[in-house]
Amino acid sequence: MSTVQASPGHLISSLPDPPINLPSCEIEIDGAQATAFVGEHLIDAINRNGKEVPQVCYHNRLGPIQTCDTCMVEVDGKLLRACGTKVIAGMTVATESKKAHDAQHEAFDRILGNHMLYCTVCDNNNGNCTVHNTTALLKIEHQQHPYKPKPYEVDMSNPFYRYDPDQCILCGRCVEACQNVQVNETLSIRWEDEHPRVLWDGGAQIGGSSCVSCGHCVTVCPCNALMEKSMLGKAGYFTHWPKQALNGMIDLVKDIEPEVGYGPILQLSETEAAMRKVRVKRTKTVCTYCGVGCSYDIWTKDRHILKVEPSEGAANNISTCVKGKFGWDFVNHPDRLQKPLLREGGGFREASWEEALDLVARRLGEIKAMHGPDALGFISSSKCTNEENYLMQKLARAVVGTNNVDNCSRYCQSPATQGLFRTVGYGGDSGSISDIAQASLVLIVGSNTAESHPVLATRVKRAHKLNGQRLIVVDIREHEMARRADIHFSPRPGTDLVWLSAITKYIIDHGKAKTEFIEQWVNKFDEYKKSLEPFTMEYAEQVTGISQETLIKVAAEIIAANSMCVLWAMGVTQHCGGSDTSTAISNLLLATGNYMRPGTGAYPLRGHNNVQGASDFGCMPVYFPGYEKVADEEVRKRYEQAWGVNLPTNKGLDNHEMVDAVHKGTLKGIYLFGEDMYSADSNANYVGAAFSMLDFFVVQDIFFSETCRYADVVLPASPSLEKEGTFTSTERRIQRLYQVFEPMGESKPDWEIVQEIANRLGAKWTYRHPADVMHESATLAPMFAGVTYDRLAGYKTLQWPVAIDGTDQPLLYTKGFSFPDGKANFYPMDWIPPCDAEDSEFDLHLNNGRLLEHFHEGNLTYRVAGVHEESPNRFVEVSPELAEQRGIANGQWVDITSRHGEIRTQALVTDRVSGNQLYMPLNSPEKPVNLLTGSFSDRITHTPAYKETPVKMKVLPWRGENPLPRLNFRYGKPTPQRGVEVERKWRRADYRMPGNGLVQIQTKQEGATNGQANRD
Ligand code: SF4
Ligand code: SF4
Ligand code: SF4
Ligand code: FES
Repeated sequence: MSTVQASPGHLISSLPDPPINLPSCEIEIDGAQATAFVGEHLIDAINRNGKEVPQVCYHNRLGPIQTCDTCMVEVDGKLLRACGTKVIAGMTVATESKKAHDAQHEAFDRILGNHMLYCTVCDNNNGNCTVHNTTALLKIEHQQHPYKPKPYEVDMSNPFYRYDPDQCILCGRCVEACQNVQVNETLSIRWEDEHPRVLWDGGAQIGGSSCVSCGHCVTVCPCNALMEKSMLGKAGYFTHWPKQALNGMIDLVKDIEPEVGYGPILQLSETEAAMRKVRVKRTKTVCTYCGVGCSYDIWTKDRHILKVEPSEGAANNISTCVKGKFGWDFVNHPDRLQKPLLREGGGFREASWEEALDLVARRLGEIKAMHGPDALGFISSSKCTNEENYLMQKLARAVVGTNNVDNCSRYCQSPATQGLFRTVGYGGDSGSISDIAQASLVLIVGSNTAESHPVLATRVKRAHKLNGQRLIVVDIREHEMARRADIHFSPRPGTDLVWLSAITKYIIDHGKAKTEFIEQWVNKFDEYKKSLEPFTMEYAEQVTGISQETLIKVAAEIIAANSMCVLWAMGVTQHCGGSDTSTAISNLLLATGNYMRPGTGAYPLRGHNNVQGASDFGCMPVYFPGYEKVADEEVRKRYEQAWGVNLPTNKGLDNHEMVDAVHKGTLKGIYLFGEDMYSADSNANYVGAAFSMLDFFVVQDIFFSETCRYADVVLPASPSLEKEGTFTSTERRIQRLYQVFEPMGESKPDWEIVQEIANRLGAKWTYRHPADVMHESATLAPMFAGVTYDRLAGYKTLQWPVAIDGTDQPLLYTKGFSFPDGKANFYPMDWIPPCDAEDSEFDLHLNNGRLLEHFHEGNLTYRVAGVHEESPNRFVEVSPELAEQRGIANGQWVDITSRHGEIRTQALVTDRVSGNQLYMPLNSPEKPVNLLTGSFSDRITHTPAYKETPVKMKVLPWRGENPLPRLNFRYGKPTPQRGVEVERKWRRADYRMPGNGLVQIQTKQEGATNGQANRD
């Protein structure tokens, strides 16, 4: 997308890039020759050629909606909507003829009948209001259709945004975004009503409807009908005035309008809008929550966050989820750590930075002197930037002299990385989110994508709803994606490798493998094929509990698909066989030729915003940045030369091994930043016991987490909005974040703190900005050779590997795989049953994961008032069968006990789980679910087997309120439809197409009827 300067009267903020697959042609616009593309929307051609035509309902990310009629132009003498008309070579277009002009005015006049202009006292008067700018463009002085309020109240029931029906112009952008971009299918307009308005679940209050508060509708609303509550009374110079005073001003405007016209009134409001620009700052940032990598502008006034505005992000454009759009209260929360804390007596006391850092350096130095460098461990953060992670591993290796450095990808994604290393070479998604959107089949295994990677899920939901994409979901829970799927099945936990291998064997045995692809591109086929011998359909049915018929159906879908992407997450990786199952997925993709092409590939969905980057930039015990092995002498020499030190050669400890080493007494000190390891690691009691045994423990965070309770020193760090740097998303996309606020209190960005500690330990680092760190990293790691801050300026991004000339790779392996011979490798399969299984005492299986509205343990999201309101409690999901069997109802208190710990919580009875399955969200205001999980781990990577937790449940004799408040979206009843369904508006008896007074519905020959035919 290219940004264009918005002229005072104009209304488009960006232009679509020219379509790449359409042939160009010549057309005539207002008497001049113009270049266009055959089949594109005429409105795009008009915009690209610099003509200003009103277009209130058109949004180039939504496509033509055709509700507003303001874009009427004459095409070969006939009045048509420019958004709903497709370009034909040689067409003659008149945008300024009398007929077009009159029609545009008539249409806009009708809009003003639904919208009161009070711009100077409106929080939406920020220079980008479509309704305001169209009033100015059309030089409206007086309106023919007087404004008429609708007989509905303003709806304030959602914690984050409000709807004002009186200002709603019924453009339907919000409906289109909700139905076909977010695909939550909450919004509709009942065009047949006497006074249509936007409806939530067909007429419910917003709070308690199915609305997931993703904010798409608010983002695309062209006026103030839908607004972020954080904007209200805050954006303008006068908008905080009492309602009575505001009403007085609005009345004054109405009184003088007949005499002076709108011209001078608009001038006044434009002056006020210009004044706002001085004090409202718009800063681009990258989301701090999940790994999708949404980026957007944050609007702030002093330290107040006015709103989040997504538009240009490479991964998300107009999309966000509730956390990205509304989840930022934590940044200014009074709980923020603002001063270093030192343990003293039974508690902590505040200290100066000098005192705290001197103590840290002295104690780390003493431990190293007494026990050697390997007595220290460094745990880095998937919440922190690439540059901060780079510095953490450099501190460990170059300053302290140990490879004991790791990050929390150990808890989730290391097995997926391992599976890809074994088979295709790079430990990252093999393509981009756009590849997932264009695949003809998406297979999701062990991922609650709609809640854990919500914006990425929207691309699948949209492709499935509109473009005929097939969807297969394999998960033990019946979550949203499972409900949408063409096929959903639930194998026994920990058996995914078996059905994956059986299906691959079936495909090979039936001669449906892509033999040419295999011969040309993949090694070790025979060895692999032999290893598949035990994986017959009969065996698969017996182990997984899934019928052969279902598995054969799945195999047939895969065979029939032109292209397939497989998405997987912690339902696969957090098992003792996580690496092997990830390998089985990649084997299946290789056998079916689903690599190297657009719309294909392996997509392990990264959980945290920078879990990809934390590993990429060397926070792993065996890898330097860019996954070069520390054991490789040549590589080590390169780093030794650059850093001027001798580097350790032995393999370091991962964070799982570090905990064991503390228990053994060999690891004496840990420096950890940006990770609530007590809550995040499995078997919290064991981890907490280890922390208590440490000689010295430094924790650096933005809040006093559970882990901080064990620290000797707590250092106050800054969240993403208070620093600069880069994050790398799940699609290997490196993106810059810019500083929005000064660090709160005495907190500091993590990179500054690490540098200060390094220098106190004798290093002479002189980084002045994270750009210096990235520069150093790019000179050393070939994977990042061409990464520079200039190439990442603003919304520009790079997907690694990046060549020295800046060429990146949105789709990997287009020329070969990342092995010396350019060929991938099949990896033989062997299934080992789960490490921990149910028995007569621990008779239930506990699963755990995220909730959409919370992030992990909830350290950030419990400090977001609206999230807390919608989802204040932790609970355990119990199936209706089990509930009936044990006499459990919603709100029942239960004790859940595993071999490792116990948690008291309330039950929520839901058919998302079945039989003896329980599900507990990770978020908890009290005790982490990891008090229950054990220390079993993936055999290769030591990722804890969180998903293999047998438990027992004791039903307690008291029952409380339902733990899920009525406000929560899970109670809602969506109203799916194909979009705005504008034809129903056109069929109204009182509808006339502007300009000719006729009842006229554009036909498909003239253009798409309602945008459906034009969707990408
Ligand atoms: S929404 Fe726009 S047009 Fe309407 S009052 Fe506000 S600034 Fe003016
Ligand atoms: S889910 Fe809610 S916030 Fe998201 S687009 Fe639909 S109505 Fe709007
Ligand atoms: S609320 Fe929806 S229909 Fe109403 S003006 Fe906003 S985007 Fe248009
Ligand atoms: S822009 Fe609304 S009908 Fe074309």
